[in-house]
Amino acid sequence: MSVQKTLSIIKPDATERNLTGSINTRFEEAGLRIVGQKRVCLTKAQAEKFYEIHQGKAFYASLCEYISSAPVVVQVLAGEDAVAKNRAIMGATNPANAEVGTIRRDFGQSIERNVVHGSDSPENAETEIGFFFSQMEIVE
Ligand code: CMP
Repeated sequence: MSVQKTLSIIKPDATERNLTGSINTRFEEAGLRIVGQKRVCLTKAQAEKFYEIHQGKAFYASLCEYISSAPVVVQVLAGEDAVAKNRAIMGATNPANAEVGTIRRDFGQSIERNVVHGSDSPENAETEIGFFFSQMEIVE
């Protein structure tokens, strides 16, 4: 295990339902520290760039439309094994398949409206953190 950072996004379906605090409590209670956080409205172009790995998939256009439809909270989470730990706290991509007690199972509405995004590897975490944050905005 090692101390890592990972990128988290609290998605529009969560900000619309005022769930930011409830979700942050899950992270903090699991030992992750929020070392960077801001509420932003993504443009369609920013959404398309962020999710460009999914370009060509059937859900890409809808995903980009959705993620730029309302405010999101982008975050840097830090802690032991933060990438895997955050993915465990989030649960499976589809809330219907996520374990009880995970964020997506407890708050998710559909595979698109699935509350949170989290980096899937330390390498992608570095890229995704750099997409949203400057060094000055990350305070450990
Ligand atoms: P996220 O972790 O943000 O990464 C890509 C997102 O695409 C994913 O969460 C889902 O919200 C969304 N998505 C929509 N449809 C699908 C699908 N069929 N398979 C995987 N991801 C999907």
